[in-house]
Amino acid sequence: MLKAVILIGGPQKGTRFRPLSFEVPKPLFPVAGVPMLQHHIEACSKIPNMKEVLLIGFYQPNEELNRFISSVQQDLKVSVRYLQEYAALGTGGGIYHFRDQILSGSPEAFFVMNADVCSEFPLQDMLNFQKEHGDAHSFIILGTTHSPALTNQPPTKKPGTFVSDVINCGIYLFTPDIFEHIGAVFQKNQKELIDEQSNGWLRAEVIRLEQDIFTTLAGQGKLYVHKTDHFWSQIKSAGSAIYASRLYLNQYHKTHPERLATRRDGGAEIRGNVYIHPTANIDPTAVLGPNVSIGTGVTIGAGVRVRESIVLHGATLQDHSCVLNSIVGWDSTVGKWSRVEGTPSDPNPNDPYAKIDSETLFRDGKLTPSITILGCDVTIPSEVIILNSIVLPHKDLNRSFKNQIIL
Ligand code: GTP
Repeated sequence: MLKAVILIGGPQKGTRFRPLSFEVPKPLFPVAGVPMLQHHIEACSKIPNMKEVLLIGFYQPNEELNRFISSVQQDLKVSVRYLQEYAALGTGGGIYHFRDQILSGSPEAFFVMNADVCSEFPLQDMLNFQKEHGDAHSFIILGTTHSPALTNQPPTKKPGTFVSDVINCGIYLFTPDIFEHIGAVFQKNQKELIDEQSNGWLRAEVIRLEQDIFTTLAGQGKLYVHKTDHFWSQIKSAGSAIYASRLYLNQYHKTHPERLATRRDGGAEIRGNVYIHPTANIDPTAVLGPNVSIGTGVTIGAGVRVRESIVLHGATLQDHSCVLNSIVGWDSTVGKWSRVEGTPSDPNPNDPYAKIDSETLFRDGKLTPSITILGCDVTIPSEVIILNSIVLPHKDLNRSFKNQIIL
């Protein structure tokens, strides 16, 4: 029997995802029309013998998370539970803290996945790889190739020191033996820290898989990298959510063709891959796509053009407005003939292994041109241009803005 753990982090995480993570925990942000986490859970549900999926994080239990869990359990017929850490214990500390829950029922192996990645999740390939190469004492990391020659970035910081052009995808296959290794680090930490300070216990429990565990395991030959050619990307910033949406929408041709919009008689024009929630109200003269996701209850007026964007639930794009490379927040309104536009930060499209860079918000004291984000409940008046800007929630703008964070 198998299990899966998804590390969902907590409220202090996802800072690069603001202002969108103010409204919804980042793992529930919709990517290609469904919450980011749903893609992970769908992949788990396809693995025979998958007993349950455990979400580990340090969010207070909240209504959104509960609602998501009950709907995904029902839809995918897999058990999903949330386990809350009392504090951020790190990527290894959380699974160690909940080891009894993970090991209950005696799974022979379990997956651990970062929530903030988008991937084809080749979980079955990882299991096959483990059968071929591993044993109960070895662990598998999913890896992908970065092409440093084709970007200006130095090789990625991941996975530390032991390989340079392979990125750790944040998707692992462990056997229960992993807890011996995490336990050893915990005990070492405890010895070093427990007498030092009153919070020594907590600091001993904070363990990071990559830095504290994998470097040692790699040295002992217990860690295998299974390299995948399938798509993979991190979802750190809001800009990368648009990129991840593109990857998932493209995958829907194989996995969920029913989620892709097609032009119906007299309906709006659809270009490329587009997701439209059935409750959205779209004028037949609108043109949508490619890479557009339209959420619940969105209203799109006559002559509207949307491309490479995510429009979140309850938003309204009034007649003849234009939204490009942007995220339009929940319940926001874009006025007639207005233009909301950002600059994509996509990797080189001609490089099959190119990966999106983690953009920094500022460079040389200036805001890096990036996608435009309207936070929740923002109102953009008619006939203005909002370019490469981030607008915080509940703003009522009265003019055009360019390269600004509007607080
Ligand atoms: P950054 O570039 O700093 O984000 O580092 P990273 O890419 O290595 O990511 P990090 O290791 O911080 O997080 C990887 C995944 O684990 C993300 O999905 C986080 O939400 C999650 N995560 C990080 N820290 C914790 C933690 O303390 N507890 C839990 N449960 N999840 C965590």
